Amino acid sequence: MNSLGNDARNHGAAVGLSAEQITINGGKPLVGRIQVRGAKNLVTKAMVAAILGDTPSKLRNVPVISDVRIVRELLEVHGVTVEMAENGDLTLDPAAVESAHIADIDAHAGSSRIPILFCGPLLHRLGEAFIPDLGGCRIGDRPIDFHLDALRNFGAVVEKLPSGIRLSAPSGLQGAKIALEYPSVGATEQVLLTAVRAEGITELKNAAIEPEIMDLINILQKMGAIISVDTDRTIRIEGVQRLNGYDHHALFDRNEAASWAAAALATHGDIVVEGARQPEMLTFLNVYRKVGGAFEIHDDGIRFFHPGGELHNVIIETDVHPGFMTDWQQPLVIALTKAHGVSIVHETVYEQRFGFTDALVQMGANIEVHRECLGGRPCRFGQRNFKHSAVISGPTPLKGADIEIPDLRGGFSHLIAALTAEGTSTVSNVGIIARGYENFLGKLSALGADFRVEE
Ligand code: EPZ
Repeated sequence: MNSLGNDARNHGAAVGLSAEQITINGGKPLVGRIQVRGAKNLVTKAMVAAILGDTPSKLRNVPVISDVRIVRELLEVHGVTVEMAENGDLTLDPAAVESAHIADIDAHAGSSRIPILFCGPLLHRLGEAFIPDLGGCRIGDRPIDFHLDALRNFGAVVEKLPSGIRLSAPSGLQGAKIALEYPSVGATEQVLLTAVRAEGITELKNAAIEPEIMDLINILQKMGAIISVDTDRTIRIEGVQRLNGYDHHALFDRNEAASWAAAALATHGDIVVEGARQPEMLTFLNVYRKVGGAFEIHDDGIRFFHPGGELHNVIIETDVHPGFMTDWQQPLVIALTKAHGVSIVHETVYEQRFGFTDALVQMGANIEVHRECLGGRPCRFGQRNFKHSAVISGPTPLKGADIEIPDLRGGFSHLIAALTAEGTSTVSNVGIIARGYENFLGKLSALGADFRVEE
């Protein structure tokens, strides 16, 4: 078993998924209703924010996914009491926060990128922090230089060790002026989680403003923080001495919603995604409509469906919010293999997010990946030899194949590919999908997918 395989097994097992491999008989439209709950990329950060409070926090609408499980375990080794109710309410009590044993932290090395966000809250509570080597999807280099530079600006001392990073704050943390080279989601969250209790004012320029970040700001404001967001991507935080716990219903997972929307379109299906909302998906919905997909907005969710007729080629350039999210492109590419004409996807957020297309080509797709910035505007990867523009010529029918899932979103797109393919596909490493998709096998069953779990 390679390391990717172990990763998948760990993620699946963490949420009670015994399967590592499934066999899919493609060709059936996905039809029915499923529910999405809180966003992985908000919930995991909100859990970390609870460390900053003097009283317990309650986070509602939390999905059962392995990234939540990993963050829960990391909180527990730091003395936080975490309880999860059947209905998805998570109670987090940070009264007994303490330094963890390095071995206990190390046990989580490589499993997620969230540990880097423990830095600020632990420095405030304990004056020190140890962060293991990070994991997350292999979709690019994913450095943490913005995070460490920001922490140094607040006055933290950063020491790099072979197994991770040790931080201390001998003189406490002070507000800082920080300008991000790129509006990084994680680095913006790092600054927020550190600045709220730093002494004085922090000004963050070129911040990311994704809806999940706005919801984290909502949470921090509930806790007692003072944060304002200007129209020009500048966030100002006035540090306060104390924060309380929060009670918050997490924003829905728009990446999961977009994935099911893509599955509905590619399989010629009709899926109502309960919990999905229009405002956070505006950009996705425009592209969905241009490709030929249809949707109806309801109070309790969004219905996504293939209205019949041909799908159309499009040009997509991924971007930070309010642009087209990088996480949306991988599932949608499967629908683009069924569109008439040449589509282009220019990936400007991650330099290596097209590895998943190899399997699609094996299944019969006509996809070429180029180093040039195709699509209209040059991006920071243009001169750097990264294959970051995909040209998809369609329509091409897909044929069943044996595929190994490479990463979370690429993995979901492989599932969709197999569901649309003629014949049978064997998809391995499915456990990785459990990192961000709650009960995805149960949802596939509910939508009428024809698959068998290999125990
Ligand atoms: C978050 O990753 C999400 N992960 C990603 O979702 C998402 O694709 C991404 O934001 C963009 O929206 C979580 O929230 C856990 P970034 P993050 O910092 O914060 C470069 C998924 O599938 N960069 O905004 O790690 C970086 O290399 C995942 O759910 C630096 O150069 O993303 C990338 O090119 C995948 N130095 C760009 O910035 C740094 O210190 C954007 O990364 C940090 C980032």
